[in-house]
Amino acid sequence: MFEIAPSILSADFTRLAEAIDAVKRGGARVLHVDVMDGHFVPNITIGLPVVRSLRKATDMTIDTHLMISEPGRYATEFVRAGADMVSVHVEVDHHLQRTLTAIRDEGAKAGIAINPATPIETLAEALPYADFVLLMSVNPGFGGQKFIPTMLDKLRRLRRMIDDMGLPVRIEIDGGIGKNNISDVVDAGAEILVAGSAVFDGGDPAAAVAELIESGTVWV
Ligand code: DX5
Ligand code: ZN
Repeated sequence: MFEIAPSILSADFTRLAEAIDAVKRGGARVLHVDVMDGHFVPNITIGLPVVRSLRKATDMTIDTHLMISEPGRYATEFVRAGADMVSVHVEVDHHLQRTLTAIRDEGAKAGIAINPATPIETLAEALPYADFVLLMSVNPGFGGQKFIPTMLDKLRRLRRMIDDMGLPVRIEIDGGIGKNNISDVVDAGAEILVAGSAVFDGGDPAAAVAELIESGTVWV
């Protein structure tokens, strides 16, 4: 089973409530929220106040992807703001085990995000403390980028590594996901599929989510 997590980064920020209603109608249950600090990534987006507002507006699972330096300083604040899932980047957290444990202790699912050029081996010691891995299939910072094709093999290797360790860790994939590659990433072991431009750029987010779910579903 897989699910689509629409990224509100590609939505109209003045009409977020409508965007949320639409993606929910289309069949999404997870809302992906991209938090960027202009330091770890070359873009600045949204933070805690927006997550607090989203929490009041929806019962969807709020998935906050922290693309920020020193994520350990803020991760639990995002849980208190209402996030159900919080991922922090392995590249910038020197105390990953501590951060993941703190996220879990605060009551949310803890995720490790990993950039395209970072080897999956860097995850090994922290995986037992994680509920999911967010595998970046573009370099983080912007929506609408092209899926990096070699990430498909990386995804397969990550799936194998997690399964070999016997861990119940889910894989989320983020960047350049659309109806042309959705069944490939599902086949390779991704369970949560982030989609920003593929959901919001066409003007009918509800239909786009439904279509993505359809394209990733293998009928037997
Ligand atoms: C990129 C973000 C993504 C982004 C995905 O840094 O982490 O979540 O919104 O957008 P698309 O689906 O357009 O690649
Ligand atoms: Zn993201």
